[in-house]
Amino acid sequence: MQYTIYYFTSTGNSLQIARQLSSTLKNTTLQSMTTQPPSQSVGGQDQAIGFIFPVYFLGLPRIVKRFVQNLPIQPGTYCFAISNFGGSSMDSLGMLNDILKQKGCYLSYGDSVKMPGNNLIRYGALPVDKAQKMIDAAMVKVNTTAQAITKQTVQPIKRKAKLLCKTINNYSMYRNIENFDKNFTVDNTACTGCNLCRNICPVQNITTTNHQPVWNHQCEQCVACIQWCPTQAIQYGKKTAAFKRYHNPTINAQDLAQKPFSPYSNIAYNPSV
Ligand SMILES: Cc1cc2nc3c(=O)[nH]c(=O)nc-3n(C[C@H](O)[C@H](O)[C@H](O)COP(=O)(O)O)c2cc1C
Ligand code: SF4
Ligand code: SF4
Repeated sequence: MQYTIYYFTSTGNSLQIARQLSSTLKNTTLQSMTTQPPSQSVGGQDQAIGFIFPVYFLGLPRIVKRFVQNLPIQPGTYCFAISNFGGSSMDSLGMLNDILKQKGCYLSYGDSVKMPGNNLIRYGALPVDKAQKMIDAAMVKVNTTAQAITKQTVQPIKRKAKLLCKTINNYSMYRNIENFDKNFTVDNTACTGCNLCRNICPVQNITTTNHQPVWNHQCEQCVACIQWCPTQAIQYGKKTAAFKRYHNPTINAQDLAQKPFSPYSNIAYNPSV
């Protein structure tokens, strides 16, 4: 069996899970959901398709919704998913299942794991030792999930507060999210002009003027830019100055550096500038 795993990550938790899963499954290709979905259909009898992603607002990040909606999957393909969350998985798997059903597929197997929360707008990072314990426990669970996937286990997805999650997720993800970036500020004295924020943004929403970031109002609220800035030069409103930053300890910024072409942004992007 061949496996293709599509992942979306902002602070690396989902990528660590995808790598862990792939090390057990073997014959695996990992692809970021911030790239163009393939034009040829995927899946079928010999290829299982997986999705690894963080929970956003009780459900799916918009990037994940768009990618899966545009992914041509052969009906009947064995599909699996692992969502990860800071508080609760809520209806994230159910929402994904709904999209797959529209394609003649369904989520054959899904699981969710708790990982260190990254929503910096609301809270700072956990102490390093607590975060590590949580990650270790999650990786054990991912290994169990990998065994189930290897056996092509089929298990119905349990829905959780479907209507509430759908309402909150739609409200949060589609109501003016593009302009979320209006409250980002950069401290000119702390910014080194390293361009990391620009290179890491999954939708190329950041350009630079005089080597400092400018946000272009196509934001997905993923918080990667503010979490990864090596000098904490970026703030969001007044609260974040007091918050410790988080990114997954096994993932480097280079692992997330984005491809120059995103289907989800019409902002010109020149990686060499
Ligand atoms: C905008 C945003 C919304 C989030 N919403 C939720 C949520 O509703 N429930 C939850 O448990 N975690 C939520 N989180 C936390 C992430 O799901 C969690 O930290 C995840 O592990 C991050 O994965 P990543 O490092 O792959 O991006 C949210 C994070 C962000 C940035
Ligand atoms: S990542 Fe931080 S230091 Fe680097 S360019 Fe962006 S704001 Fe400046
Ligand atoms: S601007 Fe920052 S928060 Fe918005 S999508 Fe890009 S990296 Fe994420």
